Amino acid sequence: MKIVITKSKQEASLYVAEKLMNVLASKEHPTLGLATGGTPKGVYAELINAYTKNETSFHHAVTFNLDEYLGLDLNNKQGYAYYMQENLFKYVNFNPDNIHIPNGKASNPEKECQRYHELIKAHNDIDIQLLGIGTNGHIGFNEPSDQFYLATHITTLDEQTRKSNARYFDSLEAVPKRAITMGVGEIMDSREVVLLALGEAKQDIMEKLLNSKTVDPKLPASVLHLHRNLTVVMDEAAAKKYNKKVRT
Ligand code: GLP
Repeated sequence: MKIVITKSKQEASLYVAEKLMNVLASKEHPTLGLATGGTPKGVYAELINAYTKNETSFHHAVTFNLDEYLGLDLNNKQGYAYYMQENLFKYVNFNPDNIHIPNGKASNPEKECQRYHELIKAHNDIDIQLLGIGTNGHIGFNEPSDQFYLATHITTLDEQTRKSNARYFDSLEAVPKRAITMGVGEIMDSREVVLLALGEAKQDIMEKLLNSKTVDPKLPASVLHLHRNLTVVMDEAAAKKYNKKVRT
């Protein structure tokens, strides 16, 4: 694991955006694993900025998003399909046919999970997976559990997750209770993983994760300790407690 601590959020976002751009430049059909939430917004802003300066292109890339709420369709403002359009896709030159997000409105969600899993495999897995982290240690929507789920699956959201994400909805009741998420198997099969954590709200979970001595499905992100090509990027605020701990 490589750990990078930056002075600011912007520096961290630029560092991660450059990693994605390196992969974009390195392959004929790179597959990007994309994340949502507040954390990657700065990364997407840097990618848009680089695209407008002709420093990168997305015409040849394939994307797989980590997750989507069950019951929200493409036009729902709280859905991740909408988020991706608004924060990245509409500003750059992806081929719409190459953009993949689980369909939260699928009539048969189990079948949708299977379809998504097979699509990732048919693309020979993901070249670089961007991850945020929940305050409970979730990655994608792989919530604390007694076991790791390997493939894309339907997950019941943790109450802590619903509360954290309620800020994007009108009320806590409006936050869906279930979602479709990529599994830890598909995440771990990615050739490179970048975990980005920003801000003080992430200092406790990052301290817990980076000092964890075991791989424990109750702390889903702990599985990343087993990945051979993982970079953890934090701003100083997110790294505050971790730093303190290693100094003493
Ligand atoms: C969301 C997403 C995750 C994301 C996490 C953190 O619910 N499913 O992929 O990493 O929670 O969100 P934020 O970046 O807003 O803190």
